[in-house]
Amino acid sequence: MRISTTLAASAVAAVASAENYLGFNSGNKKADDTAKFASDFEAEFTTAQNLNGAPGVFNAVRLYTNIQAYSTADPIQAFEAAVKTKTKVLLGIWTSGTDSIDNEINALKAGLDQHGSELADLIIGISIGSEDLYRNSATGVANKAGVGADPDVIVNFINVYKKAFADSLIANVPVGHVDTWDVWPNATNKAVIDAVDWIGVDEYPYYENGKGNDIKNAGTLFDKAYDQAVAAAGDKQVWLTETGWPYTGETWDEAVASVENAKYYWDEVGCRRLFNQAPTFWYNLRDSNSANEMKFAITDNLSTEARFNLTCPTTFDTPTSASASASGSASTAFSSATASSGSASSTGGASTTSGSSGSSGSSGSSSSSAAGSSSTSPGTSGAISGQGFSAISAVFALAAAVYML
Ligand SMILES: *[C@@H]1O[C@H](CO)[C@@H](O)[C@H](O)[C@H]1NC(C)=O
Ligand SMILES: *[C@@H]1O[C@H](CO)[C@@H](O)[C@H](O)[C@H]1NC(C)=O
Ligand SMILES: *[C@@H]1O[C@H](CO)[C@@H](O)[C@H](O)[C@H]1NC(C)=O
Repeated sequence: MRISTTLAASAVAAVASAENYLGFNSGNKKADDTAKFASDFEAEFTTAQNLNGAPGVFNAVRLYTNIQAYSTADPIQAFEAAVKTKTKVLLGIWTSGTDSIDNEINALKAGLDQHGSELADLIIGISIGSEDLYRNSATGVANKAGVGADPDVIVNFINVYKKAFADSLIANVPVGHVDTWDVWPNATNKAVIDAVDWIGVDEYPYYENGKGNDIKNAGTLFDKAYDQAVAAAGDKQVWLTETGWPYTGETWDEAVASVENAKYYWDEVGCRRLFNQAPTFWYNLRDSNSANEMKFAITDNLSTEARFNLTCPTTFDTPTSASASASGSASTAFSSATASSGSASSTGGASTTSGSSGSSGSSGSSSSSAAGSSSTSPGTSGAISGQGFSAISAVFALAAAVYML
């Protein structure tokens, strides 16, 4: 799907599978660590769909677990909120610190029994795990990121999941694994790429100390990392499962947390590179981890008026990098198509969804293919694998490790 010569052959599959979802991440607890119940999820999903000035309708959500907080294996009440608000769901199964995903499987089965195709039809994907490989990597261990899981464990859980749902309403839902971008070019993790339909990439230039992570350089840092993940993904789709910039919190090397910088990051990374171009789950609509001093919520108390202007600018500061240059012209070519579907989207309603899944879906797959072809050219990908790991000094002291707490 990445090179233009193969694009035509796979065009049907690419269009069908490459809808450029717009969503946020949603933990199963609120910022004060109390459980979210159906009404909390409903309020969250409703705000997401009605954000003033948003570059499209944020009608997708990424969950980290199928299990309702305060229970062992009850289905998460996000399911009923999703059905009620028609929110598309990227499911998550938590796979670290356990040798069984039975509770996750049972909770999901119970949710499907309860809601049937009303829920199943909203499920756009499932991630088996979240940042498990990062937590077990050299960087994760150095950062004391917490308990992770190795690639063989993830692959095994992928197989367990597939077996459990082979004859279910979600048998055809694409299976992925979400991890930090630097995990993907690591050859030891290749078995996970081989086992999935798509890879999820979490990426926070804010945390990349030692690399010149001033906000003005954030777009360039993002591009370098994203392009390496895309190259490592081979013919698998790349979903951008977490990114964002904190509006408050400590200064991390050169990275300053502020509302102004959060806005700049939204523009230079979200608007320039992601929205309506790749399935994107922004971090975040609301915070969900009291232990994380950095706060990312783009709204205060789920107001539909965000902390900053969500409307995308028409020009960007980030220079077109060498790796992005081939895709740069492609993206520019497609931006008018996505802009028109974006404005159709913001009018809301049912036509919106089909409009954006049709036109921005197909333009998105074309532009990511173009980006892919530039970064997977033999020269570039050789440079990437050679340069890779010794150079990684990124610190991902993410909220991620504690999502479940
Ligand atoms: C590469 O991946 C393996 C398996 O996940 C991990 O153990 C190792 O630490 C990673 N290498 C680096 C440099 O992080
Ligand atoms: C949001 O809620 C908090 C806690 O209830 C409150 O202190 C704060 O003033 C609220 N912010 C707005 C803008 O209403
Ligand atoms: C928001 O940003 C857009 C694009 O730059 C601009 O046209 C619009 O006037 C801004 N809205 C407000 C309320 O500042």
